[in-house]
Amino acid sequence: MIPIATRPPLPALLALLGALLPEAQVLLALEDQRLEPTVEYSKDSLWATAWVKVTPEEKGIQHLTCAVILGNQTQWTQEKVTIYSFPAPNLTLSESEVPEGTMVSVECKAHAGAVVTLSGASAGTPAPSAQFMLNASAEDNERTFLCSAALEVAGKVLHKNKTQTLLVLYGPRLDERDCPGNWTWEEDSQQTLKCQAWGNPVPKLDCHRKVDGALLPIGDLRRVMRNMSGTYICKATSRLGVVKREVVVNVIHLQNNIVTTVIILVAVLVISSIVGIAAYLYNRQRKIREYKLQKAQAAAAMKLNTPP
Ligand SMILES: *[C@@H]1O[C@H](CO)[C@@H](O)[C@H](O)[C@H]1NC(C)=O
Ligand SMILES: *[C@@H]1O[C@H](CO)[C@@H](O)[C@H](O)[C@H]1NC(C)=O
Ligand SMILES: *[C@@H]1O[C@H](CO)[C@@H](O)[C@H](O)[C@H]1NC(C)=O
Ligand SMILES: *[C@@H]1O[C@H](CO)[C@@H](O)[C@H](O)[C@H]1NC(C)=O
Ligand SMILES: *[C@@H]1O[C@H](CO)[C@@H](O)[C@H](O)[C@H]1NC(C)=O
Ligand SMILES: *[C@@H]1O[C@H](CO)[C@@H](O)[C@H](O)[C@H]1NC(C)=O
Repeated sequence: MIPIATRPPLPALLALLGALLPEAQVLLALEDQRLEPTVEYSKDSLWATAWVKVTPEEKGIQHLTCAVILGNQTQWTQEKVTIYSFPAPNLTLSESEVPEGTMVSVECKAHAGAVVTLSGASAGTPAPSAQFMLNASAEDNERTFLCSAALEVAGKVLHKNKTQTLLVLYGPRLDERDCPGNWTWEEDSQQTLKCQAWGNPVPKLDCHRKVDGALLPIGDLRRVMRNMSGTYICKATSRLGVVKREVVVNVIHLQNNIVTTVIILVAVLVISSIVGIAAYLYNRQRKIREYKLQKAQAAAAMKLNTPP
């Protein structure tokens, strides 16, 4: 019969009075069941280790006795051993691979006495089981659920975990975030065209220019050439369907840019000079006028003051 519970080996450490000789006889027993220990001797101690098979009926506290006999001397000691049964919890998904938008139930069950914590489930009162429903979305693809069962044995909390992974079939998808529809590049610069299609199964992606069918190199670092500009149709294909997206590549010519900049600079210079000169001339005219007026006023005053 296969035991449902196993335990780590039962170690017993005994220090004998005086020198220990390998002739010492070691006896190890669990209640009245005699065990067959493996004994390791060192200078003033020995380790006796034995494996025990236990049946579910033996659950509970049992006594382990270790005796060492050397000549006519016997030393013995006894320890309590807790025998428990703690199988890993059962974590089940109603389906492990589903199309997007399918309701999936996630359920975790442990044996009575244990409490489970299920990732993704709202934390309720501790219980031996937990479950929730999930509307599978693309974001849930490859999502791993963890169920952790905890059992208290002899004052210690023990954990056993189980995980399950959900696969969600979706796509293909091409969106603005991962495949922008408008690229503006400088001629001769090094650029990587990043266009990522999403889906499970992973879609195949290619981009052809509308006018001549020229292929756009996606994902490679390339030197941008003038003849790359144009409107491309990017197509993501999987067995679940096809999606298309228009991608416009604009290549700007650096030389033309310099010329434009120079023209603008010259224009700005010319305009500001004209404005400056005009302002100067206007000001000068105003001053001359003011001067003439003052002179006229002075002359008039003099005329008034001189007696006829
Ligand atoms: C054990 O044996 C030794 C000698 O072999 C003897 O002197 C001693 O009294 C014995 N002890 C007991 C407890 O019988
Ligand atoms: C699951 O979610 C999708 C998208 O949000 C929605 O269209 C669908 O009706 C939902 N299914 C159920 C059973 O709630
Ligand atoms: C877990 O599943 C196994 C096999 O289906 C079953 O024998 C066991 O009782 C289940 N455990 C619980 C806690 O339901
Ligand atoms: C099980 O999961 C719990 C909670 O996430 C963690 O504390 C514990 O270390 C895990 N145990 C094992 C054996 O992975
Ligand atoms: C693409 O971007 C350029 C510069 O960033 C802009 O001039 C042009 O209008 C945009 N075209 C589209 C179709 O959005
Ligand atoms: C652009 O021109 C280069 C040579 O100048 C040529 O090798 C390349 O195939 C052309 N690309 C396209 C998309 O026409």
